[in-house]
Amino acid sequence: MIVVLMGYMGCGKSTIGKELAKVLNYNFIDLDDYITAREKLTVSKIFEENGEIYFRKKESYYLNEILNSNKNSVLALGGGTPCYGKNLQTLINHSNVSTFYLKVSIPMLTERLFKEREKRPLISHLETKEELLEFIGKHLFERAYYYNQSRFIVSVHNNSTQDVVEDIIVKLI
Ligand code: S3P
Repeated sequence: MIVVLMGYMGCGKSTIGKELAKVLNYNFIDLDDYITAREKLTVSKIFEENGEIYFRKKESYYLNEILNSNKNSVLALGGGTPCYGKNLQTLINHSNVSTFYLKVSIPMLTERLFKEREKRPLISHLETKEELLEFIGKHLFERAYYYNQSRFIVSVHNNSTQDVVEDIIVKLI
């Protein structure tokens, strides 16, 4: 089985995914890291050198490669992965995939992302917390349509990583 975690940048897909994989004794794959390893370029560099459209093509390509490998894994998507091309339909229609949306409030995402926005090409140009909050509000409004089509929705809020992992496991069994 492949347990897929989706949600906005900063929602904890990688942190929660690593812990969940440990508990399930599954392989952990972070799609951004996988792309970086295969392309030998960071996501920021790919955006800078080849543009977002190129990144989205590679993202779909590697997503399909991972899904076809069919190993027991926890897969943390990039924030935009389910929102482009046929990615969401591929995930939904895959018999061996369980999808989870990690839902975090806009103020909490803003707090988390403000400090680390340099690493993320879509928000690195935003200078103040107010600008970031406004950007996330609009962007998440568009993306929630895709995220909400996950099989399961898990609210993160102030819950610890452990609590969220337990919540996911309860839904899986
Ligand atoms: C993106 C999110 C990033 C990365 C890229 C684009 C997005 O992943 O894939 O910068 O469109 O939301 P994280 O959600 O892991 O930061």
